Amino acid sequence: MSARQSVLKPAGASAFDVARIRADFPILATKPAGKPLIYLDNAASSQMPQQVIDRLVRYQNTQHANIHRAVHTLSEIATAEYEEARRKLARFINAREEREVIFTSGTTESINLAMHGWGRKFIGAGDEIVLTTLEHHSNIVPWQMLAEEKGATIRVVPIDDAGELLLDEYEKLFSERTKLVGVTHVSNALGTVNPVKRMIAYAHARGVPVLVDGAQAAPHMTVDMQDLDCDFYAFSGHKLCGPTGIGILYGKAALLERMQPFKGGGDMILSVSFEKTVYNVIPQKFEAGTPPIAAAIGLGAAVDYLTGVGMDAIAAHERALLDYATQKLAGMAGVRIIGTAAEKAAVLSFTLAGVHPHDVGTLLNQDGVAVRTGHHCAQPVMQRFKVPATSRASFAFYNTMAEVDALAAGIVKVQEVFC
Ligand code: ALA
Repeated sequence: MSARQSVLKPAGASAFDVARIRADFPILATKPAGKPLIYLDNAASSQMPQQVIDRLVRYQNTQHANIHRAVHTLSEIATAEYEEARRKLARFINAREEREVIFTSGTTESINLAMHGWGRKFIGAGDEIVLTTLEHHSNIVPWQMLAEEKGATIRVVPIDDAGELLLDEYEKLFSERTKLVGVTHVSNALGTVNPVKRMIAYAHARGVPVLVDGAQAAPHMTVDMQDLDCDFYAFSGHKLCGPTGIGILYGKAALLERMQPFKGGGDMILSVSFEKTVYNVIPQKFEAGTPPIAAAIGLGAAVDYLTGVGMDAIAAHERALLDYATQKLAGMAGVRIIGTAAEKAAVLSFTLAGVHPHDVGTLLNQDGVAVRTGHHCAQPVMQRFKVPATSRASFAFYNTMAEVDALAAGIVKVQEVFC
């Protein structure tokens, strides 16, 4: 086994060996902007370790074929690897059954699948959907499309100045017409960790199912479907050290079985005639056409990798990074941190007095520091804080305290140029 193939700590190593972890990520040694890369845009996409890249190469070189379709050996191998990836994902999120894990192209498609498959069947005129101010556009727009089509109404949970949901208001929004709650586990714009377990329990006591957008939570903490008891949970592979083009919709089997398919085509049927088509069982019912086989297998390798590092260790290291970065930036003149919730994941959004966030991002990039600037596909959050945009540093477990120092030094340089 090469040094690259394991992240288990050698005897005597510190509990969390960032240097050793960084060695697994080839991109972290590159200089895309001419300076060593300081990658702080993990909420947009994380990077892939060599183990995942190697797994993709092995699949392409020795295992690639279409799945569920043929008796030849290569197809059987590809099918077995794809279904093994589903088992890994089911274990990773502690789903009760692997058939509750549907492969999609990403969080956006996962939410759209829930909207088309569940929403269009069970939400009608006069019904209400509860969302929150913290939602990414991906968990707003599909429900708006549904509301427009059906004559349903969207009700929105407000947030306070720290970026925390007002739970009293959440509870007041429920009525006899409430048919669904959609809530993000972690805000991509602010980092707020929402009390989703409590919100789910409240909704369930009123017979209302809950969809959780877990895109920003699954990479950073243990997420447990049985413990949360959510009805749907959506997340993406590319934020989880996996490839792009793959995501998950977890759904409770009983709900998935009652849902209508979103896409029709091959593999999602048991039989087809022009008189009548009989749909396949779950999860195949929702995986029409040739799925992203390689990406699913790559995502399976990614969750193996993350499990090897340990989600609790990841959460603890990222918490330390966030605390250090918050402390540093909070002490800098002209910096306003947007989002100061008590429970936050590794996201630090900020504005700099007198400087447009786009200019902050452009100048930081000249020092190799990659952050995202803009509204982060969360315009209602920007409107709540009365800012058009922020700069956002988002951390992963392979980031270091020295990189936080580089971010702070970069901000000082930006101030010197503009102020
Ligand atoms: N939703 C991703 C982000 O927050 C793209 O950057």
